[in-house]
Amino acid sequence: KFPSAVKIVEVGPRDGLQNEKQPISVEAKVALINTLADAGLRNIEAGSFVNPKWVPQMAGSEEVFQNIARKAGVSYAALTPNMMGFERAMAAGATEVAIFAAASEAFSQKNINCSIAESIERFAPILQAAQAQNLPVRGYVSCIAGCPYEGEISASKVAEVSDILFQAGCYEVSLGDTIGTGTPAIIERVVDLTSKKIPMSQLALHAHDTYGQAIANIYRALQMGMSVFDSSIAGLGGCPYAKGASGNVATEDVVYLLSGLGIQHGIDLPKLLHAAQGICTVLGRETHSKAGRALAGT
Ligand code: HMG
Ligand code: MG
Repeated sequence: KFPSAVKIVEVGPRDGLQNEKQPISVEAKVALINTLADAGLRNIEAGSFVNPKWVPQMAGSEEVFQNIARKAGVSYAALTPNMMGFERAMAAGATEVAIFAAASEAFSQKNINCSIAESIERFAPILQAAQAQNLPVRGYVSCIAGCPYEGEISASKVAEVSDILFQAGCYEVSLGDTIGTGTPAIIERVVDLTSKKIPMSQLALHAHDTYGQAIANIYRALQMGMSVFDSSIAGLGGCPYAKGASGNVATEDVVYLLSGLGIQHGIDLPKLLHAAQGICTVLGRETHSKAGRALAGT
């Protein structure tokens, strides 16, 4: 029942760092992205082109994209909320973009200052422009298991918004448990309903580990045949518009799980630990990855 191979989408440089208050230099971000690519990650979300007043940490994304040592076969993606963001991403040389909607009206308003329906309208020209240049577009749906403002979110709403993004042309839809309140039972229901609309191979789970449920949720999704997972090096992260959202699930922990299950992932764990050590030194913090802590120095 498990997939034989899994694709990991590394979101640390974007979802991880966007929440950091301390300034992080372009050099440090570039070094992080380069070491992640060296560790075997093939899909790296390297930054976002949003309003810098809203998310100051991502203001330097142009310079980051311009300075990465591009590795063949690696996709360097950027979050783009509107056409201005898309144009900035193209000028900087992003090889993939991601649009981001929510299954919660309140979260949509707080995060991107418009309703869910308005956000879909804003994304239409991005999808059109991307298609014209054969650029892949990924779609996110936030708050799939709960919203910091609305509380419970229905699985049918998640499936509905996911389907809209997929029908509009996203090649993959990532289900975001933004505040990490999901448990395997909730994830099962959401994945079950959503996979009735979108092929399982084109669905991803974007787990945050706020309540320590991320690995259990990923395990449940794996059992259901899901094969794409978003994670963040050293468990960096959070979301500026989701109070209490701690880091994304740590990439090291996901890799450890997959190796234990005999599922291919293509990642070199010692090199991944090296990448984690680099960014943790910059941040002056210990890693949030349990596997990372256990393996440090071994
Ligand atoms: P708005 O204020 O409604 O936009 O924001 P606007 O079109 O009215 O423009 C207002 C100002 O923003 C103008 O500047 C624009 O030029 C500027 P001013 O005239 O005031 O000087 N502006 C921009 N500047 C640079 N790049 C742009 C851009 N667009 C407008 N692309 C907007 C709307 C969407 C832009 C804003 O709400 C925003 O930037 N939101 C981003 C929030 C964000 O980044 N959130 C975190 C990422 S989502 C996430 O983490 C969840 C995820 O991980 C999945 C999960 O966990 O669930 C993906
Ligand atoms: Mg996130």
